Amino acid sequence: MDLAVTSLSPARLARANPEGDLRAFSDSVEALKTLCAGDLKDVNATILMALKSQSPMIAEIGGHLINAGGKRLRPLLTLSAARMFDCPDDRHIGLAAAVELIHGATLLHDDVVDDSALRRGASTANVLWGNKESVLVGDFLFSQAFELMVAAGDLNVLQILSRAAGVIAEGEVLQLATQKNLEATFEMYLAVVESKTAALFAAAAQAGAVIAGACSKQEDALRSFGRNLGIAYQLIDDALDYSGREKEIGKSVGDDFREGKMTLPVVYAFDRATPDARKFWRRTIADAIQVDGDFEEARELIVSTRALDDTIACAKRYAARALDDLAIAPQNSFTSALADLAISSAARIS
Ligand code: IPE
Ligand code: IPE
Ligand code: MG
Ligand code: MG
Repeated sequence: MDLAVTSLSPARLARANPEGDLRAFSDSVEALKTLCAGDLKDVNATILMALKSQSPMIAEIGGHLINAGGKRLRPLLTLSAARMFDCPDDRHIGLAAAVELIHGATLLHDDVVDDSALRRGASTANVLWGNKESVLVGDFLFSQAFELMVAAGDLNVLQILSRAAGVIAEGEVLQLATQKNLEATFEMYLAVVESKTAALFAAAAQAGAVIAGACSKQEDALRSFGRNLGIAYQLIDDALDYSGREKEIGKSVGDDFREGKMTLPVVYAFDRATPDARKFWRRTIADAIQVDGDFEEARELIVSTRALDDTIACAKRYAARALDDLAIAPQNSFTSALADLAISSAARIS
C-alpha cells in the first residue's frame, strides 16, 4: 500500500480552490477507488457474502441494488481514513462493508418514501418488486450491517455507526415534516441534510480513523471532514434534482419537486419570488397540484432567482470546510485523495 507523502501540504490546502480546478468529481472518486482497490475488492466480496440468505427474494433484491453499482463513497471514506492512519489489521474491511449496507438499506427505504422509480441507472426495487419487499429487504441489510459491526469488536465504532443509522431515520422523518411547508428555512433544511446524509459520511470517516487508532483530535477532524463533505454532497444532489440529466445521475430528475420537498433551491427561490411566482409555489408545493410544464417552470424560477447558483455556492463553502478539516490529518496519499474529493465535490455533475 502506497503511503508516500504527497503534495498535500498546509500551503496546498490554503491554495486549493474548491471551484473544482483540480479534478472532476468522478475522476476523484476513481482515483480514490484505485488507491483503495485491494480493500474495495474485499469490501465488495464481504457485501456479497452478507447478501446470502435462505430467502431467494432477499438475495435477489439486495443483489439488484448492490450490483447496480453506486459510487461506494461512504465505504471509501472508511477505507481511506483507516489507511491514512496506517491501520494495523483488516477490521476496516468489515466496517466499510457495514457502512455500504447501511447506505443500501436507507436507499431501499428512501425510494419507497420518495416513490422513486430510478436508482443507480436501474428501476428501483419498489417498482420491480414492491414497497413491502423493499422495506423488508432494507431491514435485512441493516441487520447484516450490524452483524459486521459487531464482528469488528470495537464498541466505540459500534456506537458511532449505530447512532448514525438512527440519525438517518430521524432525518428522513424530519424531512417528511417539512415537506410542502413553504415556511421552511435554511436552518430547517440543514438539519434534515445533516441527519439524513452527513451523519453517515461523518460516521464512515470517523469509524475508519477510530479502528486504525487515531488520536481523538484526528478522529474529530475526520468526523468533521465527513460531515462537511456530506452536506456539500447533498446540496449538489439537491441542485441536480433540478439541473441534472437522468443519464448522468442515474436517478429521475424532478423527484424532489414532485414530492414537494423543501430543498435549498426551493427555499431560496420562494424567498426571492415575485407575487405571481409565490402563487405558483403555493399551488405546486403547498397544495401539491401540479400539471405538465410545472417542473420546467420551477426550474426556470430556480435559475432566474439565482437559487441554483447560491445552492452550489453554499456547497462550495462546506467543501472548503471539509478541506480545512484535513489540515491536522497525517499528510499522505489517502489524505490527498480525500482532499481532491472534497475540492471537486461541489463541482460534480453526476
Ligand atoms: C444517494 O447517495 C443518496 C444521497 C445522499 C444523495 P449516492 O449519491 O452516494 O448514491 P450511490 O451510492 O452512488 O448510488
Ligand atoms: C438521501 O435522500 C438520503 C438517504 C437516502 C437517507 P434523497 O431522497 O435526497 O436522495 P436520492 O435523491 O433519493 O438519492
Ligand atoms: Mg430519495
Ligand atoms: Mg429522500
